[in-house]
Amino acid sequence: MTPTELRGLIRTVPDFPEPGIQFRDITTLIAHGEGFRAAVGHLAKAAQQSGAEAIAGMEARGFIFGAAVAVELGIGFIPVRKPGKLPVPTIGIDYALEYGTDRLEIDPDAIRPGQRISIVDDLIATGGTAVAATRLLRKVGAVVSSAHFVIDLPDLGGATQLREQGVRVDALID
Ligand code: PRP
Ligand code: ADE
Repeated sequence: MTPTELRGLIRTVPDFPEPGIQFRDITTLIAHGEGFRAAVGHLAKAAQQSGAEAIAGMEARGFIFGAAVAVELGIGFIPVRKPGKLPVPTIGIDYALEYGTDRLEIDPDAIRPGQRISIVDDLIATGGTAVAATRLLRKVGAVVSSAHFVIDLPDLGGATQLREQGVRVDALID
């Protein structure tokens, strides 16, 4: 399936989780076997072209696509987790979302210094999550070479913010 066809599998839910937010819901895409596989295939191809040696995905929706991309490429997956979930000393960063604030944490031992990492997530909006993940991964010595999303909401400027950090960014659907 092409990215244009995948667009038709994404559901828009108005006013979730707050009034005024148009929530772009990938539940309907991942329930569609052919669509899910196609989306993962497109993301994996792009990450491979960036020379990814491992994939980092942000909890929770980034785990769905990121882990699948890592399996497709036969490389490792690094979970970038919400606070308090990892059982080892972590390194963390606080960040702002389109609807609130949150924190991300990683296990610093999961990354080899100089390792080329591609970020995968379902969606980039303000870029708060992806920029925070980039900073966190760089803090522990990773080279964040690219970031790949199913959906970009360009009006929110996240992809631009991330490119300003020197990360190559692409998305299947705007
Ligand atoms: C969503 C989405 C991205 C992030 C994008 O995750 O999966 O990670 O928001 O927004 P941003 O570009 O403005 O940072 P959310 O934090 O809602 O968590 P979830 O994956 O657990 O649903
Ligand atoms: N994460 C941040 N903004 C979002 C949106 N509009 N739809 C789905 N996920 C989001």
